[in-house]
Amino acid sequence: MERIKADPDLRHIPVIIVSSVEEMDSVARCIEMGATDHLPKPFEPVLLHARINASLATKRLHEQQELSHKQMEEYSRQLESRVLEQTKQLRESYESLRRTQEETVFALSSLVEIRDPYTAGHQKHVSQLACAIASEMGLPENQIEGIRVAGILHDIGKVCVPAEILSKPGRISEIEFAVISTHPQVGYDILKTVEFPWPIAQIVFQHHEKLDGTGYPIGASSDKILLEAKILSVADVVEAIAYHRPYRPALGTATAMEEVSKKSGVHFQPEAVAACMAVFQEKDFVFE
Ligand SMILES: [Fe+2]
Repeated sequence: MERIKADPDLRHIPVIIVSSVEEMDSVARCIEMGATDHLPKPFEPVLLHARINASLATKRLHEQQELSHKQMEEYSRQLESRVLEQTKQLRESYESLRRTQEETVFALSSLVEIRDPYTAGHQKHVSQLACAIASEMGLPENQIEGIRVAGILHDIGKVCVPAEILSKPGRISEIEFAVISTHPQVGYDILKTVEFPWPIAQIVFQHHEKLDGTGYPIGASSDKILLEAKILSVADVVEAIAYHRPYRPALGTATAMEEVSKKSGVHFQPEAVAACMAVFQEKDFVFE
């Protein structure tokens, strides 16, 4: 028994002890070491045969259980590696899609800026400031990401405004203003079929709306304007005043904030104005 149980190749073989009554101590030791059965001498051959069959049946059952346990383990290992592989592929295709989306957004954005060098960089600046305001207001990451994309694209509708009007020095006429003010609608029409995970077309459509309903294109009132559009409109106006425009020199961020603050609660959402103020005064925000 000692030798059988010490050998890894033999230790699973069932052992039946056949012994005389005087050898009981030795039988007890064998059973402690793992003997499966004991038959005292003299024995009936038919009984030994039955015990052998029973031991073999138990052994086969154990072997089967062990085999199916191993198969299950192997199966779950394969499953795990397949899930890992597919997750990796999914992540890669998501990353590639995200890159494509980002490149498309910038390509679209550059369409309008190529034609209007005076406002080159405007959309990127507005996007950057709007994100800083949104972050200051404690908005969730995903919503800030939507604001970032909407900011980069917010003036895309200006592709339909003649370049002479966009870069005209001095005051613009009423008709020229009417042409310019179509750009939120045009932007909406360009973007409405693109399936962004954020309401980009709607934000772009509303970026010139004002809280008191005096904005354009539809004069929507405060409760109908998306928070993202309210934030974007503050960033848009601050950037426009702070920077050089064809019809006047750059006025700087302090003047810009002063102007926007005067209209806080009338044109602009007070929380967004306050956050914008904090971004400049406490966070030392500078346009890239
Ligand atoms: Fe605009």
